[in-house]
Amino acid sequence: MEETNETFCVGIDLGTSRSSISASNGERHVIDSYVGWPVDMVARKVIKKTVLVGREALDNRLMLDLRRPLERGLIKEGAKKDEDAVQEILRHLISLIGLKQKSKNRAKLRAVVGVPAEAFRNSKQRLRSALEGVADSVMLVSEPFAVAYGLEALLHALIIDIGAGTADFCVMQGRYPTEEDQRTLPNAGDSIDEQLLKLMREHHPEAQTSIHMIREWKEKWSFVGEPKKPVVVTVPVKGKATDFDITKEMGEACESILPPVCETMLDLLARVEPEYQENVRNNIILAGGTSLITGLSDAVQKALADLGGGRATVVKDPVFAGSDGGLALARDASSSDWEKLSL
Ligand SMILES: Nc1ncnc2c1ncn2[C@@H]1O[C@H](COP(=O)(O)OP(=O)(O)OP(=O)(O)O)[C@@H](O)[C@H]1O
Ligand SMILES: [Mg+2]
Repeated sequence: MEETNETFCVGIDLGTSRSSISASNGERHVIDSYVGWPVDMVARKVIKKTVLVGREALDNRLMLDLRRPLERGLIKEGAKKDEDAVQEILRHLISLIGLKQKSKNRAKLRAVVGVPAEAFRNSKQRLRSALEGVADSVMLVSEPFAVAYGLEALLHALIIDIGAGTADFCVMQGRYPTEEDQRTLPNAGDSIDEQLLKLMREHHPEAQTSIHMIREWKEKWSFVGEPKKPVVVTVPVKGKATDFDITKEMGEACESILPPVCETMLDLLARVEPEYQENVRNNIILAGGTSLITGLSDAVQKALADLGGGRATVVKDPVFAGSDGGLALARDASSSDWEKLSL
């Protein structure tokens, strides 16, 4: 696609926990996928804004009706507030790259939006209406496909994008992936957080924890396989700061996603034409925030050993791999690939 003064291209990765944007003017930004509206008059007076997006929303959550609109990879059925929240996230991302809100005079915005595969299948209509107020033309694609496109891993590759809400799989065979080439599992970052919270409550019921604390610990000390060093956290017990060794719980929670992820990977590999299976086995690409778990690529390679071995690598830039891929797609797309949205 030729870029003109009147046309702007962006790739957006609309994620359950984080959303990122890569724009044709070189700007790249990432925000937490949270939106909150002040709960009452007092909150409105304290916050002095009608809506907060991203980290700011999370930090002020006690005063807000806080939404994470893509929980489990879907915009919740019938929830208008969640559709509005998706639109606020999109508006915020667009404002971060320095573009004005949609109007007749603004440059035309072409957006490729990578969404969790489930949302792609089931929330297309709601996503489109959220996008209507933001972009002029759109293309919705599944997240792992956007990642594959950005890396030019278009032939004999298996992308496994493990985010917060879902793990999305996509086999690339040199053409646009079909339904059979893709899979989605609910085993990802959020399910690890829930598992770790459950284990904490079972083993250390006296510790006062929240899902937000649990997620922070996981992002610092996650691992599968052998731990490099003990994981010790400080948590209040009846208000008194107390240390807990949670190495075992951390390992168990992180490992909980391995069996379903490996099983799905092996199943997809078995469906590849026999003469190409080895090529794909040697080109397993792990993306998404959860792919940062220490030891994950080794564990995946171990699962491939039974099939004769293989190679799994983690993408260099998991935060922007999806939005960069979206931008690359936006630049390459021809006019007929776009879906026009009304003003
Ligand atoms: N170092 C880390 N170790 C383990 N998990 C991590 C690490 N850093 C981030 N995460 C987790 O990665 C997830 C976020 O990844 P990502 O941004 O790819 O998800 P998303 O795109 O928002 O979700 P989805 O693709 O499911 O919609 C969160 O669950 C976060 O806790
Ligand atoms: Mg994602």
